Amino acid sequence: MPLLIIQGDITRLKCDAIVNAANNSLLGGGGVDGAIHRAAGPKLLEECRKLHGCDTGEAKITSGYNLDAKYVIHTVGPIYRGGMRGERELLESCYKNSLKLASENNCETVAFPMISAGVYGYPFDEALEVAVTTISTFLDNEENDMTVYIVIFSKRDYQISHELFDDVNRFVKDRMIFKAPLRGNIFGAVANKCAGATMYECTDASADASVEDYVKTHKDESFTQMLLRLIDEKGMTDVEAYKKANVDRKLFSKIRSNASYHPRKVTVLGFAIALKLTLDETDELLMKAGYALSDSDTGDLVVEYFITNEIYDINQINEVLFAMDQTLIGEYYPA
Ligand code: AR6
Repeated sequence: MPLLIIQGDITRLKCDAIVNAANNSLLGGGGVDGAIHRAAGPKLLEECRKLHGCDTGEAKITSGYNLDAKYVIHTVGPIYRGGMRGERELLESCYKNSLKLASENNCETVAFPMISAGVYGYPFDEALEVAVTTISTFLDNEENDMTVYIVIFSKRDYQISHELFDDVNRFVKDRMIFKAPLRGNIFGAVANKCAGATMYECTDASADASVEDYVKTHKDESFTQMLLRLIDEKGMTDVEAYKKANVDRKLFSKIRSNASYHPRKVTVLGFAIALKLTLDETDELLMKAGYALSDSDTGDLVVEYFITNEIYDINQINEVLFAMDQTLIGEYYPA
């Protein structure tokens, strides 16, 4: 099930549980903790008093009171002291224990703030990496059917400082200015056989035959049929495919049961990444749903960058899309 990075105030989210970055006393404080207590009202503090604190890395659950969330899961992140004092393991524990509690309480949607990344001083990009990795590992387990949000309070906090971001930016800028040559379309896969020749110059007879065969076999295939075929061909299970695509299970069953389902473009792109499609294959899958990658769309160019570089990590792609104010790929039921 999906992991989404969103920007906003966690206290305003309507979901089953929001997570609080608390301190060991659980009696409130500043930052997100203060905001949650203010929004939930005094009854939250009353219930927290009965919990007798919480160890670092552990988590405890209460009601959400005046919040739109049913529950608040209180966890205590580590204070960052240079990174050599078990901070990472403790931060991982915060996510794992909070998710465990959410799951035991049948939560389907859970939102996390950036635990420890405020007054506790954990470097933001490292804290985000821990959050994304730990949550993804949890969601990869077939039994864990949940939508998880990482809520970034202020875009100013969010700097992807690493080389990757510079590289994507460069790619997007170059492509935007110097329009890329048209790539192959449905014939791309076989046109590649004639390296160095354009599609029309291609005189390889076997390639021509393949084109004909290809068109005959797949002409009438719908998006759903093509998707299911690709999942089979790649030797993946449905669950692996929709999880890697950041797509919700309910949505996937809708697609599966409707041969003429019309998906959103971000959904198609999610599957392109899950299935590790080439650019030509991605174009083809998009075309089945009536879309195309555009060289004048920043989001599309970001996805093209990752596909071209064979980086098929949807969370990494979404981190960059988020940083560049673009729609994330995959699909989910919004909270
Ligand atoms: N919604 C989402 N994120 C928020 C919100 C909000 N309303 N407000 C702040 N953040 P912090 P910590 C972000 O300091 O580092 C408290 O006093 C914020 O920008 O709240 O784990 C506790 O009582 C930052 O990225 O938590 C503890 O004493 C992230 O939430 C101590 O702070 C975490 O910042 C815990 O420190």
